[in-house]
Amino acid sequence: MKARTPFIAGNWKMNLDHLQSIAFVQKLAWTLSDARHDFATAEVAVFPPFTDLRSVQTLVNADDLPIAYGGQDISEHDNGAYTGEISGAFLKALDTKYVVIGHSERRQYHGETDEQIAGKVAAAHRHGIIPVICVGETAEDLETHGPSAVPVAQLRVALGGALKGSDVVVAYEPVWAIGSGQAATSDQAQQVCAALRVVIAELLGDDVAQATRILYGGSVKSSNIAGFMRETDIDGALVGGASLQLEEFASIVRFQKHVGT
Ligand code: 13P
Repeated sequence: MKARTPFIAGNWKMNLDHLQSIAFVQKLAWTLSDARHDFATAEVAVFPPFTDLRSVQTLVNADDLPIAYGGQDISEHDNGAYTGEISGAFLKALDTKYVVIGHSERRQYHGETDEQIAGKVAAAHRHGIIPVICVGETAEDLETHGPSAVPVAQLRVALGGALKGSDVVVAYEPVWAIGSGQAATSDQAQQVCAALRVVIAELLGDDVAQATRILYGGSVKSSNIAGFMRETDIDGALVGGASLQLEEFASIVRFQKHVGT
């Protein structure tokens, strides 16, 4: 059993409206409770669209559900003339515990730079929100630079925004594995996650590096989660497509039941 509590996170991307989010989170809680899931052995979080967060908060509070939630992005700025942006102050006001920062889809479709991502990490920490910092290489990067060079370089810049002593979560998501059905092998992912832990140790100290959860993301399913979780430096998963299928996501959360398979 690892010292770090495993973390299974569902990134819904642009899926499920606020009514669908209530139904999904309620059913997820029931399914896990029926299966007697022990949340101390795997923390569970969902990352719905911004417009769902208030509804998810209301449900989680009313029913006292042991499910955390987070935003999919955060502004570098706290308030002002930034049309379309969402402040960390607003996320915090909805008891948002986590926020995904630097997802490859934001880097790719919205031109987010490593420097902006560092600014967003700083904003999350200013508001007491734990950033889930995403890094990962494209297939072309992999061919040109090898397996860990690009994610390591991305993390170095992103952690420049981290407040010393505040928690971070890091997610290694190879771009070529996202939504492709072609997950990295657990060996490949372990190699990169170990290199990322070295960067955390260099920049934030050994104790923080040992305490930080590093997730793997990219075509995670119930049939491959156990292999990732057996690796020493992989502490959980950031799940995209499979996080929208209730039984499948609940089965990923309950990876300990099939870790020996
Ligand atoms: P898939 O699980 O659909 O490959 O997506 C991974 C991802 O991007 C999670 O942030």
